Amino acid sequence: MRILGIETSCDETAAAVVENGKTVLSSTVFSQVEVHKKFGGVVPELASRHHLERIGPCIQAAMETAAVGFRDLDGIAVTNGPGLVGPLLVGVSTAKAISFAHHLPLLAVNHLEGHIESVWLEHGEIPLPGLALIVSGGHTSLYRTRGPGDYRILAETRDDAAGEAFDKVAKLLGFDYPGGPIIDRLARRGNPRAVPLPVARMSDGSLDFSFSGIKTAVLRYCQANSIKPQDDPDNPSQQVLDLLASFQSTVVENLIQRVRKAVRIERSASVLVSGGVACNSLLRERFRELARKDRFRFYCPSPDLSLDNAAMVAAVGARHLREGRIAGLDLNAEPNLRLGKKLDRQSRRKRP
Ligand code: KG4
Ligand code: ZN
Repeated sequence: MRILGIETSCDETAAAVVENGKTVLSSTVFSQVEVHKKFGGVVPELASRHHLERIGPCIQAAMETAAVGFRDLDGIAVTNGPGLVGPLLVGVSTAKAISFAHHLPLLAVNHLEGHIESVWLEHGEIPLPGLALIVSGGHTSLYRTRGPGDYRILAETRDDAAGEAFDKVAKLLGFDYPGGPIIDRLARRGNPRAVPLPVARMSDGSLDFSFSGIKTAVLRYCQANSIKPQDDPDNPSQQVLDLLASFQSTVVENLIQRVRKAVRIERSASVLVSGGVACNSLLRERFRELARKDRFRFYCPSPDLSLDNAAMVAAVGARHLREGRIAGLDLNAEPNLRLGKKLDRQSRRKRP
């Protein structure tokens, strides 16, 4: 079974061909980072326009690399949400046109499901029950999972996503978009204990995340210490390096401690971390340490599958096809599409 996947929910135009939901025959990503860099973030209108220009060549490149034609495909999978409505519509309309013209089943994929299942795509079988943490530019959510397609929300962010906090702090200090990889690199040269920053705790005992407070604390620290955007982003002052290391370490510890608590409550056998921030080197290192200590298995995809890509979309599409979940040609983009129901604290306690 060969599925063509299409992903255009944000600023990457991506297409991929996956065989039997497991083998990535090709995964092409046309990044728009250069387009949005000078604006310090993604400009939705520009993103839509660039998706429109690039989606055709991107699909062509993915199919050429996989050495397949439309006749060799069994289905076409597309991200229909969540994401930016204009960019999503480019992918959805393209997929619908291909589905109609080539009589291929249309498979609607939730972007978040794609991120989580990129872990199965790369690692195969995983001990269950598991916890799936998505940490990206748009989302920070923790799910309980008993297998692909089975997700219950345990916690989500009440304000900014973790990646968004990285990007905003980077912008504040004059670094390029996306800020996550830059902070990751520079933080290695700083002291993570130099600047005390607040960790949000929920007064209702929930596991929910919050990252806007730490971003504001960084802003206040910069104002109080007259720190300006850095002229040479490769060589910031030691004070800025210390601030970045402290910021990164606070965000990572915040994520780690919430997940640690959830592993105990849920008696999870594994933790699956996906999304762009899963590339963060400190995050990976700390999760590996914790997994050894608390005896769970830790999985995260390689960077190519952590960042937005279409292989994860094609893999989820293959599962939908096996389950007979075919979308109609009236499929629409759903910018606020959610994944899974939120567990209330009562039903969380009732679980054996
Ligand atoms: O999953 P993704 O490619 O797109 C969304 O769905 O949002 O994630 C992009 C986010 C950006 O906020 C970027 O700054 C962050 O992932 N990111 C990182 C790292 N690499 C990417 N954050 C921290 N450390 C990194 N190494
Ligand atoms: Zn994403």
